[in-house]
Amino acid sequence: TKSIDIAVIPGDGIGPEVITEAVKVLKAVAAVEQLDLAFTEYELGAKHWLETQETLSEETLAKLREHEVILFGAVGADPSDTRIPSGIIERELLLKLRFSMDHFVNLRPAKSYDGVPTPLANPGKIDFVVVREGTEGPYAGNGGVLRAGTPHEIATEVSLNTRHGVERVVRDAFRRASLRERKHLTLVHKHNVLVNAGHLWRRTVEEVAPEFPEVTRDYMHVDAATIYMTTDPGRFDVIVTDNLFGDILTDLAGAVTGGIGLAASGNINMDRTAPSMFEPVHGSAPDIAGKGLADPTAAILSAALLLEHVGQHDAAARVEQAVEADIAARLGSEARSTSQIGDAIAARVA
Ligand code: NAD
Ligand code: IPM
Ligand code: MN
Repeated sequence: TKSIDIAVIPGDGIGPEVITEAVKVLKAVAAVEQLDLAFTEYELGAKHWLETQETLSEETLAKLREHEVILFGAVGADPSDTRIPSGIIERELLLKLRFSMDHFVNLRPAKSYDGVPTPLANPGKIDFVVVREGTEGPYAGNGGVLRAGTPHEIATEVSLNTRHGVERVVRDAFRRASLRERKHLTLVHKHNVLVNAGHLWRRTVEEVAPEFPEVTRDYMHVDAATIYMTTDPGRFDVIVTDNLFGDILTDLAGAVTGGIGLAASGNINMDRTAPSMFEPVHGSAPDIAGKGLADPTAAILSAALLLEHVGQHDAAARVEQAVEADIAARLGSEARSTSQIGDAIAARVA
């Protein structure tokens, strides 16, 4: 038996609801595939902040680093809760984990499933993956405020793009494209306006390309990419893009493939110098929290990405197949609660 040491951060809102189901499915697959899974839960997020005024201490960060992988739910306060400054949990917990653990590949697959209603009249077959840069861009937190509170207040957010950071994610995206059937890579940026960063990305793609002669490539400005993602999403194979464009495009990708409740992601440190972290693309969804309405499928598929990352390909495939079968069975049947969906997928896995 292979053992996997998993840190679990359920978080806020629907985070704990969907993570309960993902853990349920992981336990089911562990029994069949003879895996020995250890789960250590960390209570972090808005509730923890209200109790302790702490987002993520150095001690907790050090403990998290000791695990092989992290399973993350979602964080973020209910916007109507004025006691918690906006963004503090997101920046000081979630982004701190991604940055300090060097999760430079934010992997976000987008796939359509037969029978899942989508807002597109003619979605066709969608199967692409967004390789979103995870440690730089406008998320780096550069910038600041001058003349705060005056009529002349100046607020800046400076996007950080390093050659090292761009090159490693671009190379990873090329490699992923080279392993896929269509072997196509699309760089999404906006180098017609963001000339400095845009040209660094463009040049880097050109310079890495000769390492992957089998991969074809094209370029799209991000605004046009939103058009194609809604009118012809089947054209995409692998997309590589910066942190902010990737954030926006992957919510759109979730929506066009039939719902953010199905969209999984991995924050991956490809050098394996720290644990990688797997989480649904969605947030804490305060509008539906506590009602059993959240779809746990995204969290369950994120657990499958986790299994894939630790080399458990059979276990990962088993979870994916169970999810696909469950999704197919949803056609025309009654809506189910969060735990009913988790139970059904766990039963199929077993
Ligand atoms: P959100 O993703 O939480 O919700 C957007 C919409 O999608 C809502 O209508 C919600 O009900 C729906 N939705 C989300 N997940 C769903 C699921 N599993 N099943 C069914 N419906 C689902 O985005 P938001 O409302 O912009 O953000 C809410 C909070 O979450 C904010 O505090 C935000 O900062 C935070 N957030 C956290 C993460 C994360 O932890 N990775 C990601 C996004 C947003
Ligand atoms: C996501 C979220 C986060 C992001 C926020 C909550 C920091 O939207 O995981 O997509 O912007 O990366
Ligand atoms: Mn997002």
